Amino acid sequence: ASQRTLSIVKPDAVAKNAIGEIISRFEKAGLKVVAAKMLHLSKEQAEGFYAEHKDRGFFGDLVGFMTSGPVLVQVLEGDDAIVKNRDLMGATNPQEAAPGTIRADFAQSIDANAVHGSDSPESAEREIAYFFGSDEICPR
Ligand code: CMP
Repeated sequence: ASQRTLSIVKPDAVAKNAIGEIISRFEKAGLKVVAAKMLHLSKEQAEGFYAEHKDRGFFGDLVGFMTSGPVLVQVLEGDDAIVKNRDLMGATNPQEAAPGTIRADFAQSIDANAVHGSDSPESAEREIAYFFGSDEICPR
């Protein structure tokens, strides 16, 4: 069934000028960009987005990294978009990411891991609403 998921091209991949190559992988896999914007997240925005991780030891580094430069946030739409996006991304730790995945090809560390993608329908709904109003999403 058609689903939506939130995707973020993280500061490391934006700095590498890899936005286009990453979006190209989504499009080639049949996912459509239905919303997109570039943002330089504030500390408050990053902390709120990653609130579920606030008690983890890596939270400070995660927020520091996600506010270190601009990101591209997008809504992707398509059949099984959530799982399809996670398959394209590969494992969170790029050292464990399968060959040919976005993280294997563009990421260098578990923090600087190129992309974020929603991990469930519930988080997709929350994460999309965190960044986009319904008037900013263009179904296609
Ligand atoms: P992301 O999918 O954006 O969700 C939370 C992020 O925390 C994750 O990608 C990683 O970049 C980062 N992170 C850092 N250390 C860890 C860890 N030990 N486990 C999971 N995520 C981590």
